[in-house]
Amino acid sequence: MNKGARSNSNNAVPSNNNSNDVYNIIVLVVDIVILIAKFWAAIFESIVKLFVTQEEENVQGKTVLITGTGHGMGKEMALQYAALGAKLICWDVNEKTNEQTVKEIKQKGGTAFAYTVNVTNREEIIELANKVKKEHGFISIVVNNAGIMPCHPLLEHTEGEIRILYDINVLSHFWINQIFLPDMIERNEGSIVALSSCAGLFGVKNLVPYCGTKFAVRGYMAALAEELRHKNPQNNIKLTTIFPYMIDTGLCKNPHYRFPKLMKLISPKDAASSIIEAQRKGLEEAAVPRHFVAVEKLGRMIPKKAMRLIDDFLDAGVDSDKL
Ligand SMILES: NC(=O)c1ccc[n+]([C@@H]2O[C@H](COP(=O)([O-])OP(=O)(O)OC[C@H]3O[C@@H](n4cnc5c(N)ncnc54)[C@H](O)[C@@H]3O)[C@@H](O)[C@H]2O)c1
Ligand SMILES: *[C@@H]1O[C@H](CO)[C@@H](O)[C@H](O)[C@H]1NC(C)=O
Repeated sequence: MNKGARSNSNNAVPSNNNSNDVYNIIVLVVDIVILIAKFWAAIFESIVKLFVTQEEENVQGKTVLITGTGHGMGKEMALQYAALGAKLICWDVNEKTNEQTVKEIKQKGGTAFAYTVNVTNREEIIELANKVKKEHGFISIVVNNAGIMPCHPLLEHTEGEIRILYDINVLSHFWINQIFLPDMIERNEGSIVALSSCAGLFGVKNLVPYCGTKFAVRGYMAALAEELRHKNPQNNIKLTTIFPYMIDTGLCKNPHYRFPKLMKLISPKDAASSIIEAQRKGLEEAAVPRHFVAVEKLGRMIPKKAMRLIDDFLDAGVDSDKL
């Protein structure tokens, strides 16, 4: 019964109305009791999960598409997924290095296909994605990895540089996901992995536009998770957002820190295996190394001024690439 109908019949049948109110209160109380029970069950489950090693998805025979496979973490992920028996679709703008990745995979007995694409270009992405779907069928795992990191003060960034940064680091994810998601939704399976960064957790000087792109990745992935969950309460499509700290790929040209031993660069190999583990376990958010997400959550509870004192003490950051 809607509110209008109820107020109209207010005087006529008070008894009926009262029983309705009682009924509504009982429903509300039951809802609250169920919420409290499920809430604590979820808390308990997540505590248990801390101590139980989670099962990792078997990727053997599955098709994995990765962007930016010519170098760095993308290349290492391609090699490692192939070693696990997956079929690799390798996308990069650099034809030569991408072919090299595929060659190395084949030499080790793996299966891989190289495609040259500049992910700044939406038409190019759409055309290639449809071709890949035709040639290889269902893509189980999509890893949006290609990225660039111009590093200097905001006032030294050109318009073109900022636009291309957003095209590669953010918009390309949308064009790619819009093409591969429908098949995943239809089958209710698959994974999408997106490379954010610790620069998507904290603001970093010299990386103003870059931080914007990495916070954007974090934001759209969180929203997409909500959309999929509401579309299908039994949703089985897994979304994983990755927050690497500094990885030794050469992308980050001038890192500096006061305690190099404490925060030493991680090898692309180790980073890749950490990312693959996060995907196979279906983790929604995973930093590399893992504890950085917790550091960010803790940092948010501390007043900004106090947090900045710790930041300044650690003195970790990146210097301009124009110096
Ligand atoms: N290296 C780090 O310290 C670090 C830290 C946090 C996050 N990340 C993120 O991880 C991802 C991979 O970083 P990396 O260090 O392995 O990078 P990398 O520079 O080693 O490799 C990036 C690859 O992407 C390709 N690429 C660049 N522009 C492209 C384009 N327009 N179209 C297609 N391919 C293109 C490059 O050719 C290259 O092969 C990026 O999104 C980066 O922002 C890196
Ligand atoms: C990719 O496309 C952009 C925008 O057209 C262009 O500026 C850039 O040079 C291209 N990258 C390569 C490696 O060709």
